[in-house]
Amino acid sequence: MIAKDEDDEVRERLEDEIRDNTGAISYVFPRPVRKVVWGAFGANSFWGALVLWTRYAAEGDEADLSNVIGNLETAAVLAVLLAFEFWDEGRRKSFRKNLTSRQVAIGDREVYKKVDESTGKVRKYSKLKPVDDDWILRRIDRWGVVETATTGGNPLPTVGPAKGKILEELVAEHAPKLIVDVGSFVGYAAIRMGRRQPEGALTVTIEKDFRWWASASRFVWQAKLWQQYPWESESNRRVECIFGDALGLQT
Ligand SMILES: C[S@@+](CC[C@H](N)C(=O)[O-])C[C@H]1O[C@@H](n2cnc3c(N)ncnc32)[C@H](O)[C@@H]1O
Repeated sequence: MIAKDEDDEVRERLEDEIRDNTGAISYVFPRPVRKVVWGAFGANSFWGALVLWTRYAAEGDEADLSNVIGNLETAAVLAVLLAFEFWDEGRRKSFRKNLTSRQVAIGDREVYKKVDESTGKVRKYSKLKPVDDDWILRRIDRWGVVETATTGGNPLPTVGPAKGKILEELVAEHAPKLIVDVGSFVGYAAIRMGRRQPEGALTVTIEKDFRWWASASRFVWQAKLWQQYPWESESNRRVECIFGDALGLQT
């Protein structure tokens, strides 16, 4: 088994914490510390109970007996807390494992192989891919199909992956300098087309519903097809989201 490098450890710890919505307490009172505290105090209480029991057996003092019971109760509570920590740790590990393999399956996580130079052994590890155009399109496709299948809702009314691919091929073939997309919705088609345009070309997408215009703007920005920060150069302005009624804008 090859040791994980420091980067892997830090990343896994962060991902683990981010996914665990009960994890805030772990920042101030981390699990390894909790285990030591529950274990040490529990063992101490149990040891105290044994000592007091020996003294009670020798001297018969009733106060010692009640202290034995008190110590055993404390030890039992701490033992339960310690057992919970081990159980919860296992639960989080298997949750992380399942989530990781699901992310690999849907393409959100990349699998790498690393060779340990000293032993020649290969270790497989994975990390989440950065959010880019592919990531956003996969996400919208999943909302359209997988997630609505479980919630019973309607798929999102986008052109979808099959027609989206055709659009991309057409854009790549004809290399238009300007594309006008009426009805952005969440910006799916605009992202598909905009990312295949030649350098310096532009897709203008128009949406009359403010909520969808805001969603499209956000996804286009996350797909890195619009200027990321005001102080950056304008070279990555490939998809412009315009709010308004396309019919009104014509006049
Ligand atoms: C079916 S969705 C378009 C899907 C999208 N092109 C895609 O696949 O990514 C239709 C969208 O057009 C918008 N829309 C309809 N009429 C419009 C108009 N006159 N001007 C701007 N947007 C309009 C609607 O609000 C809706 O969000």
